[in-house]
Amino acid sequence: MNPPRVLHPFAVPSRPTDQFLEIVRGEGCRIWDAEGRSYLDGTASLWYCAAGHGRREIIDGIAAQLAELEAYHTFARFTNPAEERLAELLIDELKPIPDARVLFTCGGSEAIDSAIKLVRAGHKAAGDGGRSVFLSRHYSYHGVMLGGTSAGGLPANRDPFGTLLPDFFQVGRDSLEAMSEAVDYYGPDRIAAIMAEPVIGAGGVFPPHDGYLQGLRELCDSCGALLVFDEVITGFGRLGSWFGSHHYDVTPDVTTFAKAITSGYQPLGGVVVGPRLREWLEADPSYLLAHGNTYGGHPTCCAAGVANIELMRAERLPERAAAAGARLRAGLDGLQGHPGVAEVRGEGLMQAIGLTEGLTAGPFTEALLARGVIGRGLPYANSVAFSPPLIISDEEVDELVAATAAVLDELAG
Ligand SMILES: Cc1ncc(COP(=O)(O)O)c(C=O)c1O
Repeated sequence: MNPPRVLHPFAVPSRPTDQFLEIVRGEGCRIWDAEGRSYLDGTASLWYCAAGHGRREIIDGIAAQLAELEAYHTFARFTNPAEERLAELLIDELKPIPDARVLFTCGGSEAIDSAIKLVRAGHKAAGDGGRSVFLSRHYSYHGVMLGGTSAGGLPANRDPFGTLLPDFFQVGRDSLEAMSEAVDYYGPDRIAAIMAEPVIGAGGVFPPHDGYLQGLRELCDSCGALLVFDEVITGFGRLGSWFGSHHYDVTPDVTTFAKAITSGYQPLGGVVVGPRLREWLEADPSYLLAHGNTYGGHPTCCAAGVANIELMRAERLPERAAAAGARLRAGLDGLQGHPGVAEVRGEGLMQAIGLTEGLTAGPFTEALLARGVIGRGLPYANSVAFSPPLIISDEEVDELVAATAAVLDELAG
């Protein structure tokens, strides 16, 4: 059989048409395929569906905005009420960084590449244009555009694409010493920023060790670089706090976000620009920021963000994520000692089991799927990650753990 017309992302291009799973419906923490089989969405799609599927409040918010003003650009002097309201909610109420502003994009990768450009532009505007070096971490994932691919530390995502951008370097995931050596090696006055996911996601779900993020903050302060948190996964409640910056009590200069800001009901991402960077960009009234996307600040996407955040606040979803995360962790911890389990790691509702050598993540997630549960295989750490919607019930958490236990018995019993 031939491959389908669609060239699927992060997929084998030659995979035949009949091997794809057609998802047709979603409600709460469950989705259904075209054959009517249901699955527990143990990954909130790709980490993003915080509010769960089929939420009327978000759908109605989007429909109302479409009927009023479906789209209009926000370049130069143009703005719209949905964008303004979302910015107010984000900047004044949720406050990922105090006294910040926000640039909206269409997703996480655009947010990362925007952040890279804004950081460089800021240093240049401040008369410090020699700062071009970005330091990041092995096994980090910062999206798929050229900037984010150059910053990212997953070899398979870099190798096929030839020479990446100069002045991007990665160091060992956990080592402040390695980061500090890199600052000295590349030159403290050449470092534009250090970029990090508060909890490494696609690279295996690795929370920071105690003091790591604070150590990055101090390194940046000592060399004059900016600290960028990539909160595309950790933003909007997943760790049990609205942002990783709150959760770990470390304030970055720049935060990138996407995914759960709309729970995925519309594509949206962005860059939160903290006071240091915004002052550099605002200092000269004749300075033009020559950057932005056609759909940045798209009113329908922003209306989805507003409705989603209002729902998440009303239902206290970050607190629920903390409670559900604790239950999930306790369940997975109960599997420690099984011959298939090497390790359990995570934070909040972002948890993973590391598999022992005889098992591989791909077949493991296929076996889970056969039992009606979706998990995410993370091959670098030979791990299976669970990041369900933040609304997940206790019974659904238990179902997820029971399916994991059954697959462990099946494959490594
Ligand atoms: C930490 C992180 N940064 C950036 C991205 C890229 O976001 P997007 O896929 O929306 O472009 C992702 C996507 O999973 C991510 O996990």
